Amino acid sequence: MATRAARDKTGLFGRDVLSFADLCPTEVQALLDRALAFKRGDPGKPLEGKTVALVFEKPSLRTKISFDISVHQLGGHAVYIAPQEVGLGTREPASDVAKVLSRYVDAIVCRTFAHSTLEELAQAASVPVINALSDREHPCQALADILTIREAKGRLSGVTVAFVGDGNNVAASLALAVASTGGAFRIASPRGYVLPQSVVEQARSVATATGASVDLMTDPKDAVRSADVVYTDVWTSMGQESEAKVRLAAFKGYQVNTRLMALAKPDAVFMHDMPAHYGEEVPAGFLDNPKSVAYQQAENRLHAQKALLAAVLSG
Ligand code: CP
Repeated sequence: MATRAARDKTGLFGRDVLSFADLCPTEVQALLDRALAFKRGDPGKPLEGKTVALVFEKPSLRTKISFDISVHQLGGHAVYIAPQEVGLGTREPASDVAKVLSRYVDAIVCRTFAHSTLEELAQAASVPVINALSDREHPCQALADILTIREAKGRLSGVTVAFVGDGNNVAASLALAVASTGGAFRIASPRGYVLPQSVVEQARSVATATGASVDLMTDPKDAVRSADVVYTDVWTSMGQESEAKVRLAAFKGYQVNTRLMALAKPDAVFMHDMPAHYGEEVPAGFLDNPKSVAYQQAENRLHAQKALLAAVLSG
């Protein structure tokens, strides 16, 4: 919201984070540094006396639990509002939910089906709104992803990240994150499931300033060849269950397995935001592959979100 003045060193105090593009490259680096400080045991309690609403229209393990624990570890209090309790836009307008919650809490973390619902919330709220996944983006996931890549590779600039699969919300935020940190983002998707053109343009625009690149491909082998990081996600996301059969056919040949990983650099890591659909985008047990950093990636949701909450709520 424009009415909330920025005053902290990241410039994020009081701001909404609906898209990864809401974070400029210097803010991203500051968040990663702070996330690592939290991971190393920074005992700071910048959310003391603050309450955060966790409004979820869809199920969640990682996002819900890591936000709840983030708020607790930072000294604040989280209130979870479950999918069946929300009724955003059905029981009452999202704008009224935002105005009422703004009277009780200091921030709203929200997972929605439609990104437009998040925008309506953010427009009406007088407290910051953070995107916990929408149909367009998953910025908190991407922040944890690049934290994990920085840990695994020791840097972000010049790192080649190959995403194999759907040009979905996770891919969109990751493309923007890699563009923001100077990496090379390649995505291989079947026709009809490519990264939205608006995201490609946005990411390429950021990339011109950071030296990054964004390339779209159809053959997973082209994307993965000599990559530092190979990333995949489910072929059928939450809310797309009616398309499962069609998607299963469309994504045939897009599975990340040991054969595909062999084309990447010898020290490449494998990433997955989870939950995994074993037997589809990965073989059974693939997250336990020695190259996999998927569980480290899940852990990093906690540290990255602590950094984001601290910056937005305390500066
Ligand atoms: N990666 C992720 O967002 O997981 P959840 O859906 O369990 O929150």
